[in-house]
Formats: sequence, structure tokens, C-alpha cells
Amino acid sequence: ENLKKNISNIVIIGMPGSGKTTIGKEISKISGKKSVDIDEIIERETGKDISQIFRDYGEEYFRQKEKEVISRIGKENNQIISTGGGSILDYENYLSLKQNSRIYYIKRPLDKLAVDGRPLSSGGINVLEKLYEQRHSLYENFADFEIDNDNIERTSADIWREFNE
Ligand code: S3P
Repeated sequence: ENLKKNISNIVIIGMPGSGKTTIGKEISKISGKKSVDIDEIIERETGKDISQIFRDYGEEYFRQKEKEVISRIGKENNQIISTGGGSILDYENYLSLKQNSRIYYIKRPLDKLAVDGRPLSSGGINVLEKLYEQRHSLYENFADFEIDNDNIERTSADIWREFNE
């Protein structure tokens, strides 16, 4: 079905620390598609990690760079794209990512989200609750499929199976 529509990318969205990058790499192993991580590309190209970029240049700069990378990567085929948790909330980013992909929303309880090295997550559970309130309906609207991440291997295998259905 996806072959007929030229859909060759898997895009992974969801809250920061929900396991998007790890799942992307795991699906890459089972599928043979390459995995790319938008945050990692931004870090490579700026020579700074995400916390440093927020601290030295501010969030607006980060969002601009994120948009530029997504616009470029969205045009490529046959890849697993792990996004930063805020990227899909921008409608232009959504369109860039959606053109040849199926989008998967990874769900995970807020108290289980990884917070290390994440500037927006450092405010604790209350901040994460606010982010979740602002975002969850957008994640739901943009996703083609939602899945709980309670186990990396199983979640990855389920996504790969669903993609091929
Ligand atoms: C962000 C999530 C981060 C990173 C940046 C902003 C967000 O990525 O892009 O810190 O707005 O939720 P992860 O979702 O990989 O943590």
C-alpha cells in the first residue's frame, strides 16, 4: 500500500524523552532503512549540543535551524526520521515531513520521560505536564498511528509491521 503512494519514510514524533531516537535506531536495524535524528544533525552542523544552542543562541535560533534541517531531510527517501519533540508543532515542518512519510506518535507516561540534556524538560514534572497539555492533541492530529512505548524492541517491531501493512 505504501509502495503505491511512494511513501518510504517513517517519521517519529512525541514528547521529549519518549524514546524517539532509540526507537528510530532500532527500526533502522530491522528495516535496513537509514535512521536520521533531526537534533543530532543540528548538533553536528552547529558544533554545539542542544543545551548549548538554547543557552548561547536562544530557542528562536534553534527553531529556525530545526526548520531548515527538516525541510532538507523531508525531501529524502527511505529513512527513519526521529524528530525533536517541538518540531511537528510547526505546520510547515509537518508539511515538510509528511510529503513521503507515515507519521508515528510515540506515547509514554510523563514520569517515565528522559530529561537529561533537554533544556525544556529541566523544570520537572509540572513543566512536562504543561507541555503535554499544549501538545498532545497536535501530536494526535498529525500522527497516522499512535503507539505506547513500553518496550523499545516491541514498539519498534510494531511500527515496522504497521508500516508494511
Ligand atoms: C524539544 C525537544 C528536544 C529538542 C529541544 C526541544 C521540545 O528533542 O529538540 O530540546 O521542544 O520538545 P527530544 O524530543 O529528542 O528531547
